[in-house]
Parts: sequence; C-alpha cells; structure tokens
Amino acid sequence: MITISPKDISTREVHAHLLGAVSPRPIAFASTIDSDGHVNLAPFSFFNVFSANPPILVFSPARRGRDNTTKHTFENLKKVKEVVINIVNYDMVQQVSLASTDYEEKVNEFIKAGFTEIPSEKIRPPRVAEAPVQMECIVKEIIELGTEGGAGNLIICEVVLFHIKKEILDEHGTIDPFKIDTVSRLGGNWYSRAKNGLFSVPKPLTTIGIGIDQLPENIRNSRVLTGNDLGMLANVEKLPSFESVAAFLENKTQAQFIEEATAEEVHRCAQELLCDGKIETAWNVLMAKEIKLKEN
Ligand SMILES: Cc1cc2nc3c(=O)[nH]c(=O)nc-3n(C[C@H](O)[C@H](O)[C@H](O)COP(=O)(O)O)c2cc1C
Repeated sequence: MITISPKDISTREVHAHLLGAVSPRPIAFASTIDSDGHVNLAPFSFFNVFSANPPILVFSPARRGRDNTTKHTFENLKKVKEVVINIVNYDMVQQVSLASTDYEEKVNEFIKAGFTEIPSEKIRPPRVAEAPVQMECIVKEIIELGTEGGAGNLIICEVVLFHIKKEILDEHGTIDPFKIDTVSRLGGNWYSRAKNGLFSVPKPLTTIGIGIDQLPENIRNSRVLTGNDLGMLANVEKLPSFESVAAFLENKTQAQFIEEATAEEVHRCAQELLCDGKIETAWNVLMAKEIKLKEN
C-alpha cells in the first residue's frame, strides 16, 4: 500500500490516480449551444445521476490542466442553461472519442464526428439520433470548484424529457443492459463495454441477511471460501434447518462425500455450488460437514 497526500504530487498525477481509481465511469455526451445558436458536442465522464425526484444529473467540464482554459461546453452553459445528455453505446465510442478533439469555438462536433442532429422538444440544443437514450435537461446550478487548472465545474441539471429507443427495452419496459450496450471510461485510454462483464447480485433489500459475523467459525475462517462466497452465504435469513440437512444426507452418495471429504474439499464443493447460484445446496453441504465435525 502506498499512501499519498494530493498536496505532495502534481495535478497531473492526482488526475491519473483519480481516473484510474474511480472507474469505470459512465459517459455523458453533452450537446449545448452558445448564445448565437452554434451547436457544440463533447463527452464527459465526470458524470453521474444523483436524484430521481427531481431527476438530477451532474457532470463536470473541467479547466484544462495544461493551460487553465475552459471548455466550450462550460462557456455555453453559463449563457444558455440547456443541455442534452446523450448516452454512449459501443457502436458510437470511436466517433465520441473523435468529438472530444479540441476543435475551435463554433465548430459543430456533430459534423466533425459524423453524428445526426435531431431537434429537441423542450430545449434548443439538438439530440444525437444515434444515442440509445437522450435526456433533455435544464441547468439548475453551476458550481465552480476552483480557479486553477484541473478544477472541475459541476453542472447540475434536471431531466425534463427522456427519449429512449424502443429496441433497448425488455418485455417489462425496463432498459435491458445487454441491449443498451453502454460503454464507460477508466484510467488512461481504457474503456469498458458493460455487457462483456455483466453479472447480477440479488439485492439484500427484501431480506435481512444473517451477516458474516453469524457464520459458523469454520466457514467464516475458511481458507477456501472467498469474501464473495461468504457474502452470498451471509445473505440468507437463517441457517438451514436440521431437517433440511438431514434430508440432504438421506442421499447415500452425498452422505458418503460428506463423511470422506476433508473440510477443505467440502468448502470447495460449496464454492462451486455458490458459483452456480445454488446457495441452499451450498449451505446444506457446509452444515452437513459442520454437524459431522462436531459429532467426531
Ligand atoms: C470519454 C471521454 C470522457 C471525457 N470526460 C471529460 C470530463 O469528464 N471532463 C472534462 O473536462 N473533459 C473530459 N473529456 C475531454 C473533453 O471531451 C474535451 O476536452 C472536449 O474537447 C471538450 O469539448 P468542448 O470544449 O467542446 O466542451 C473527456 C473525453 C473523452 C473522450
């Protein structure tokens, strides 16, 4: 572990640590206009959602580290407080990167990067037709975080209209993570494609998990089971009943395995079951061995 105070390193290094660590970050592809109506389009990964009621998005066009100049997006938003936040999918990513080029003021990155402008309904900046979701927003507040190079400028905006492509919805009308195919930004030149690494973790909101502190000691201190395994085991509301373990042991092959296998082998078997999402069976295997160990 290295421990660093941001005051002891350059802004460039602080920037690199923050971007490498706070990752992946979603990308806002922001369309704005200046007071003469010139259109601007640029990507920002200092971006997220912060409220659903009201629906609030925040992103940050920062002061450039190299020369402390400000971005056209920021200058536009101080004058015209309207922005479309377009969501970036895999098919758009190379063109989005191109749109981040420091083109001169008044240069329209829709044209430079080859995106299609479509009019918004409630605000003046246009939407990106290719984006799977386009959110028309009104800027509520701008917070300047500093005056030196690298300082962020928080653009706090409220979504006043959503446009969502039908093709990305599932049968319940919810956005399907595989269909939206979002990309995100990490440190350096790295991006990630969400759908390549998707997995689901059941929300522990509906149940009150027993917690890792309540796991039997052998299981909690297992040399095989990982933090993720213990997290899944501890998300159950109660340990399996004696009847459930007894029913599991009625199967002769299973009973023989529990009798003959070492605790480590049993833990490995439970780990494979957890990996397949078979939490109840994993618990039966583990508790059967616990009971056997206590008997001997
Ligand atoms: C994926 C991606 C994410 C970016 N995120 C940010 C960001 O969060 N803040 C920022 O100031 N610049 C960010 N940039 C750089 C800006 O897009 C770039 O400076 C752009 O030229 C600004 O355009 P503008 O001057 O037209 O507003 C990012 C670039 C890329 C490619």
